Amino acid sequence: MMKRYYDFLVIGSGIAGLSYALKVAPYGKVAIVTKNELIESNTRYAQGGIASVMKEPDNFEKHIEDTLKAGCYLNKREVVEMVVREAPEQIQQLLNWGIKFDTDTLGDFHLAKEGGHSEPRILHYKDITGYEIEMGLSKQARNHPNIDIFEYHFAIDIITQHHLGQTVTRYDTNIECFGCYVMDVKTHEIFTFLAPITYLATGGSGNLYQNTTNPEIATGDGVAMFYRAKGQVENLEFMQFHPTAFYNPGIKPAFLLTEALRGFDAKLRNINQEEFMHKYSPLKELAPRDVVARAIDQEMKIHGSDFVYLDCRHLDKQELLQRFPNIAEYLLKWGYDITRDLIPIVPAAHYQCGGIKVDINGQSTIHYLFAGGEVASTGLHGANRLASNSLIESIVFANRSAQFAIQHFKNHNIPTNIPDWSDEGTVLNEEMILITQSIREVQQIMSAYVGIVRSNLRLQRAIERLELLYKETEDLYRKSKLNPKLCELRNLINVGYLVIKFAMRRRESIGLHYNLSNPY
Ligand code: FAD
Ligand code: SIN
Repeated sequence: MMKRYYDFLVIGSGIAGLSYALKVAPYGKVAIVTKNELIESNTRYAQGGIASVMKEPDNFEKHIEDTLKAGCYLNKREVVEMVVREAPEQIQQLLNWGIKFDTDTLGDFHLAKEGGHSEPRILHYKDITGYEIEMGLSKQARNHPNIDIFEYHFAIDIITQHHLGQTVTRYDTNIECFGCYVMDVKTHEIFTFLAPITYLATGGSGNLYQNTTNPEIATGDGVAMFYRAKGQVENLEFMQFHPTAFYNPGIKPAFLLTEALRGFDAKLRNINQEEFMHKYSPLKELAPRDVVARAIDQEMKIHGSDFVYLDCRHLDKQELLQRFPNIAEYLLKWGYDITRDLIPIVPAAHYQCGGIKVDINGQSTIHYLFAGGEVASTGLHGANRLASNSLIESIVFANRSAQFAIQHFKNHNIPTNIPDWSDEGTVLNEEMILITQSIREVQQIMSAYVGIVRSNLRLQRAIERLELLYKETEDLYRKSKLNPKLCELRNLINVGYLVIKFAMRRRESIGLHYNLSNPY
């Protein structure tokens, strides 16, 4: 029997998946399916922290305005207001789950400042906020009697009426989700997970690019699955590049040097050791990320260098080491003393601002399928995400989706005739090189033609190159017994295609989408 029945199915175990699971668990049986070990996620690597208005002189209006301004006012105002206003309550929820944030000598939260924020409002735990959150949430999930955790289980495809033999098109408004086909990564068995409500929280797609801060799990699986199931996605042209990843060719993922360092007054210098941000923005190092990343890209092009520098040498040594101990220790392992050396850095693919289109409760265009966290496009970020706004977005939306799911899961019946996965007529793929080389090619195409700066010609070239990989991969997919790498390749091609298509459709340069053929 390959079927598994639950009240709530959760795919992904970062902050979105885990916090949602904890909220619905008192009301029914929950399955968390996750393709690696429970804690492996983008969440785990978050450094800077989580944005929330905590005290005067900060206020909701300022956080709302900063978010809208960073997003070039392409954000949905209603969503921005909701997230900003509901943030403090969800911070309290994290504290109730035992998650800690740094405090100052008076016992108040220590609030850091990051690019685009007009006030210090970033709660953090040293420079490993994400690890603290992920460990806290996974501990709660592991101890919950109503939650079953399926590690090393890879979600392949969302189950809809299509699997009952009905024709489903992108124009249909009555598509329903019944669950998901999921592969046990160790045995390659494929199970049919069925549930009245599915929550998709599979994170981002940084591995579309050669250089990314995202761990290996971030391969755009959620967006690709959802798109194949004929759901609506949006804003995928807005891929955020973090300005300051440690330049260390060949090491994956690229190690992040948090924006909080620049909030702490670290400076950028070009290969000639000259400061340059004043040429690009009056906000200098604390300009929004798209501006800083493009400035670095420009300086690298002007000087023909592969990196620029981050300079912390003028900062108070004791305070620097106390505030960023993990970063200092990591750099030392590679021979850099953060208090004395210039640190080579380069922008790296970091955050997918667009994704699965959802409403204010996280409901997607497929009924009974909710999406949250980085995989979702809620309308909060617009054309560019404000730093540290994604962890808070994830937990605020997870809470809203959970409240909705609790009310509605009993109203959805699962058909009894859903077939199990069939791999009849397929054979074992003996040559992994066919897959690994194609993944490399996707990453090369996206990095060369669809990076920080784009042009119509580059986008056209990218889509033509990707088309070839698409045909080869679909052919391989039809013939082969499934394995996770093949699924990831197929998903990367799918999401790469969407990023390019959305970029081609957008006529103006705005926020993270900068096109030389239509400059600002
Ligand atoms: P993730 O945490 O990425 O979790 C996705 C989960 O889905 C994982 O468990 C993964 O294994 C699983 N999954 C994926 N595909 C499948 C599949 N096919 N089947 C089963 N499971 C699957 N944001 C901030 O707000 N503040 C910060 O300071 C910050 N710093 C960051 C630093 C780094 C280095 C990075 C990479 C990101 C940072 N971000 C930060 C962004 C933020 O961490 C993420 O946007 C957020 O953690 C996303 O959470 P999530 O739950 O949506 O996804
Ligand atoms: C960082 O610490 O610079 C990352 C913050 C973020 O991506 O929001």
